Amino acid sequence: MKKIYPSFLIMQKLPTNIRTRFSSIFSQEEMSYLSNIFSLERRPVSFRVNTLLSSPEEVSEALEWAKIEFTLLDFPTGCFVLGNQYIESDIWKIDIYKKWYIYMQSISSQSPVHFFSPNLSQFSPQGEMKPQFRILDACAAPWWKTSQLSALYPNSEIHAFEPNKIRFDKMQHNLKKLWCTNVTAIHDEIRNIWKYIDEENYFDMILIDAPCSSEGSISLHNDKFLESWDISHIKRNYKRQKFILSDTIPYLKEWWELIYSTCTIAPEENEAVVHYALCNYPELTLENIDINQNKYIKYKESLKSFEKMIFKTEISEKTLRVIPSEYSEWFYMAKFIKSSE
Ligand SMILES: C[S@@+](CC[C@H](N)C(=O)[O-])C[C@H]1O[C@@H](n2cnc3c(N)ncnc32)[C@H](O)[C@@H]1O
Repeated sequence: MKKIYPSFLIMQKLPTNIRTRFSSIFSQEEMSYLSNIFSLERRPVSFRVNTLLSSPEEVSEALEWAKIEFTLLDFPTGCFVLGNQYIESDIWKIDIYKKWYIYMQSISSQSPVHFFSPNLSQFSPQGEMKPQFRILDACAAPWWKTSQLSALYPNSEIHAFEPNKIRFDKMQHNLKKLWCTNVTAIHDEIRNIWKYIDEENYFDMILIDAPCSSEGSISLHNDKFLESWDISHIKRNYKRQKFILSDTIPYLKEWWELIYSTCTIAPEENEAVVHYALCNYPELTLENIDINQNKYIKYKESLKSFEKMIFKTEISEKTLRVIPSEYSEWFYMAKFIKSSE
């Protein structure tokens, strides 16, 4: 029989450095909630339909035929969640998986791209014209959001940067399989964007799904992560994230949109980066983003301050911290608009 530990004992299983750190971010009540989440062994399988090759109706029919219980969510649009009894390999044998009609992706990870305003997430019949945009995916691999953007904006031109060779090669292979023909994959760091795009104010939409310390995947079953956690990673990422933002902002068109997201808890990599952007780029303003909370996705206000940092007021009001739950993992999202200042 599975043992159920009280939350304070679960918390004690977290290494002291992480526990101390989290106590400075979360209230006691939140810590006790999180302790249960950290002890989860797995979450239900979730994926999205690849609308470049299939439709929610076709995928639903295939799952019904295979007698697999599922829920199709309203948000993120096209997201399927399977009953708790299934594991990923249960769908490997179904055609919709083998034919790349679906694509494994967590609920939180599917969310950020839906906050761009030209939201075309309704699935229109094949062949219907959709508007053309220029989209930059500044940190692309392992291609979850690139392929999602490609499907949401099939007539748009998407440039996807990734400096890591192994991740880049895998990305190219999978983009082909998913039929993402509108993506130009570029094996380089975003700071070299000037080599490939020779005009500033070029993109309508920019996604920075930043390299981060990935604390969203903290689990008491992931010893490797717990042992390797170190505050120096957070500090290094904070610097890197500020550079990535600075490198991309000139390429955003006036009145268009930039979404910044991470899958980490660290305020330095979330609110502090947004604070840095607002202080140093007066042409950027924050736009409110909102999700209808439900059992699949929950959020809380972002932080007003952390340690000695006091963040601009609009940050806690307008950016989102998706809180981890039995269905979705940690995520942070902010949306900027660039004005002409
Ligand atoms: C959080 S992952 C992106 C996940 C991806 N957007 C997705 O949804 O699949 C961050 C990626 O940024 C890449 N990266 C790191 N430094 C970068 C840089 N300077 N310029 C562009 N990409 C970078 C990393 O190699 C990593 O693949």
